[in-house]
Amino acid sequence: MIKVLGIFGSPRRGGNTELLLEEVLKGAEGEGAAVERIYLSDYTLTPCKECHGCDQTGQCVILDDMESIYPKLLESDIIVLASPIFFYGVTAWAKALIDRSQALWAKKYLLKDPSLGKEGKRRKGFFVSVGATKGPKVFEGAILTAKYFFDTVNADYVGELVVRGVDGKGEILQHPETLRQAYESGRRLVKEQER
Ligand SMILES: Cc1cc2nc3c(=O)[nH]c(=O)nc-3n(C[C@H](O)[C@H](O)[C@H](O)COP(=O)(O)O)c2cc1C
Repeated sequence: MIKVLGIFGSPRRGGNTELLLEEVLKGAEGEGAAVERIYLSDYTLTPCKECHGCDQTGQCVILDDMESIYPKLLESDIIVLASPIFFYGVTAWAKALIDRSQALWAKKYLLKDPSLGKEGKRRKGFFVSVGATKGPKVFEGAILTAKYFFDTVNADYVGELVVRGVDGKGEILQHPETLRQAYESGRRLVKEQER
């Protein structure tokens, strides 16, 4: 069974990111995938200390809730990372997880662990985001961050669903077509993985 990991990067429960990602995940479940949800604001994640402790081991020296997230990342077939835009980037919640995946980066690029190499399992990465403003560049930084995170976990970046001009809590509900698109994205991700 295809395993989908949904990472909720907004601290606002019931907010726009959550509503949108939930549709993606429901679409995936509709295609028979096993979906796991991580609400990052329920986790305690210390930011990367740049100690380089992982360089020799591929393991982070910090012992916190990230310990339970590493195996989930590696067991997944599809990772859907969702975050609203905070100051032109992902939230600190999402960035903490991404920076802590430096241990996996070390495993892949320094230690050349085959599980994260070309012969290792390939997964897929999809990014979901919302922002209040409508500028053309509002998602640029976050998309780049997401792409390099996905590369680290051997996930091919297969695209994104980003929604501009959404600010108030739950405002995304006024965009039923976007929610439908989110559901379809989830279905498509699973269907394409099955091929
Ligand atoms: C700390 C903070 C920083 C933000 N920075 C931006 C920004 O740079 N650009 C933008 O378009 N929206 C920005 N926003 C607005 C949020 O992206 C927007 O309200 C979004 O809908 C929140 O999603 P959520 O309900 O999932 O938390 C910011 C909001 C907060 C709280």
